[in-house]
Amino acid sequence: MEGSQFISLVALFALLASSISSAYDPSPLQDYCVAVDNINDGVFVNGKFCKDPKLVKVEDFFFSGINIPREPVKLYGTRVNLLTADRIPGLNTLGLSQARVDFAPGGVNPPHMHPRAAEILTVIEGTLYAGFVASNQNNNTLFTKVLYPGDVFVFPFGLVHFQFNIGESNAVAFATFSSQNPGVVTLGNAIFASKPSIMPDVIAKAFQLDKNIVQELQSKKWTFNT
Ligand code: GLV
Ligand code: MN
Repeated sequence: MEGSQFISLVALFALLASSISSAYDPSPLQDYCVAVDNINDGVFVNGKFCKDPKLVKVEDFFFSGINIPREPVKLYGTRVNLLTADRIPGLNTLGLSQARVDFAPGGVNPPHMHPRAAEILTVIEGTLYAGFVASNQNNNTLFTKVLYPGDVFVFPFGLVHFQFNIGESNAVAFATFSSQNPGVVTLGNAIFASKPSIMPDVIAKAFQLDKNIVQELQSKKWTFNT
């Protein structure tokens, strides 16, 4: 085979592989594609099975109760109530999801990122100090803002961000994500509570920390705030 033919073949395979393994939310290909567990009720496959449109009900697009606060988890003083296509099946393939975040005074939504989404956050109650960190390419610039009720802040796709309740009362915010399944990587949990643990020498060297401090951090009880 000639060199140019070989290169064309490799390019063709790369194109095929990338279209088959694409992990991004596709643009919707139909009005809706309600997720369904029982394939007997399904007609197409598009990420999840889609419910037969004839069986779709208004309830597939509906959720009630996001007005109800949830008790913040002790470790962080915050709690995230996430609504994805698992809880509102009509979100399937629409590239959207939402969360309510409750903050006790002093509560933090710890530094985290969403591997599949940008986020837009609206504060309903309380006062939050919020921010995100740009990637290495942009010198890890920190962008922060104090947010009050009615304020809206954007966290760009995949960047590390956080919110901290600096007020004296509870705070509430609603986040909307550009994916039906944004995913979360909470940095503290990922670094210090992976299963199995990352070798302490790796973290000590990477973070310029004493190995004892790394081991102490790894021995702590890390939880999620969802
Ligand atoms: C806020 O950043 C959230 O992801 O809940
Ligand atoms: Mn977030």
